Amino acid sequence: MEKKAAEFKSCLKPAPDVLISCRDKEGKNNALAVEYACNCSFDPPMVMVGIVPSRYSYHMIKETGVFVVNLVPEELREQYAYLGSRSGRDEDKLAKLGMNVGDGTKVNAPLLLDCPVNIECTIVDSIKTGSHEMFVGKVEYVHANEDIVDEKGNVDYSKIDLLKFR
Ligand SMILES: Cc1cc2nc3c(=O)[nH]c(=O)nc-3n(C[C@H](O)[C@H](O)[C@H](O)COP(=O)(O)O)c2cc1C
Repeated sequence: MEKKAAEFKSCLKPAPDVLISCRDKEGKNNALAVEYACNCSFDPPMVMVGIVPSRYSYHMIKETGVFVVNLVPEELREQYAYLGSRSGRDEDKLAKLGMNVGDGTKVNAPLLLDCPVNIECTIVDSIKTGSHEMFVGKVEYVHANEDIVDEKGNVDYSKIDLLKFR
């Protein structure tokens, strides 16, 4: 059977399931589920995340120029589904879920403390593709729970039961 290329949506799999947290100019925090996420530079370390302009988080990320990528454990599946289907436009999702939030060390954006790894990023570039705007984030600081960090200070990702949402 032949299918048109245009029918192959999000065809790279598996996709990571991360939570992007952000803060607006007034200090309001929000987070959304994102699967358009990848490493995009080894040196200096950079990551890239794709946000659809209609998301409430989009204007927050545009106006502050920073975001945090939070790696999500399987145990946060319900919270992930909520943050990926409800909008911060209508409610304070993080408060509703009772999620623990901290402040970034280098960037003015919230850390999701229930996640074992939080990657603070400053936007250095972006490109509007089709549906998404891809934000290139320079990695400014990485927080990781002590129990997943080895003696050399490296994160042992095998110790995280990462969410595979779909
Ligand atoms: C598994 C999953 C992956 C998602 N991936 C993305 C994504 O890569 N980019 C995006 O903009 N929205 C993505 N979404 C949708 C947003 O998380 C969702 O629209 C969210 O409600 C937006 O929240 P906000 O309006 O508070 O910003 C995804 C949702 C789910 C459930």
